[in-house]
Amino acid sequence: MSKQLSAKDSVLGAGPMIEENALTADQFCQLFSSVGWDAPPAPQAKVALDNSMCVFSLHLDDSLVGMARILGDRSMSFYLKDFLIMPTHQGKGLGTFLMRYIEAYIREQLPPGWAASFELISSKDKEVFYESFGFERRPCEWDGAGMFKMIQGRSSDSDEA
Ligand SMILES: CC(C)(COP(=O)(O)OP(=O)(O)OC[C@H]1O[C@@H](n2cnc3c(N)ncnc32)[C@H](O)[C@@H]1OP(=O)(O)O)[C@@H](O)C(=O)NCCC(=O)NCCS
Repeated sequence: MSKQLSAKDSVLGAGPMIEENALTADQFCQLFSSVGWDAPPAPQAKVALDNSMCVFSLHLDDSLVGMARILGDRSMSFYLKDFLIMPTHQGKGLGTFLMRYIEAYIREQLPPGWAASFELISSKDKEVFYESFGFERRPCEWDGAGMFKMIQGRSSDSDEA
């Protein structure tokens, strides 16, 4: 599915286009690498995309320039992953456009009266960008730090005794 949205709050002229669940694993890896992150193997990216609640890809003038995906339970918890705009297109309001679209998507999932948490781990020094949308840093008055760890899969030559 693709949607053309109003870009009245950006400086993007004709307006960007957002597609849902159309990003390929190769496109994902290319975008991932474009911002200096170590891309996973394409087969691993494919499983991640297939199991995401929604994958958003952002196009401008027929070029793929950004992406994000949401994980979650469609009820209490929505988690933002891999939110990025290609370096050549940063600072033009596209990140703002994509974030507003995603927040509207989440709101559409929730029946009247429900509220859900929308969470992420910010890249270093990107916190101010997220704060402009109302995200709060942790630790805060009532919560400790967010935490994470990486888990290494089995080595490919390991014997299953
Ligand atoms: C963070 C990112 C998504 C922002 O996208 P963008 O399209 O450049 O952002 P916008 O042009 O919509 O900027 C919106 C506002 O955030 C501000 N902003 C953007 N990046 C910022 C940063 N690193 N630090 C502080 N403010 C920032 C802009 O100055 C702008 O403020 P203004 O409206 O007052 O001018 C983009 O820089 C990016 O992809 N970075 C590399 C990948 C990354 O780190 N992603 C975050 C993963 S958690």
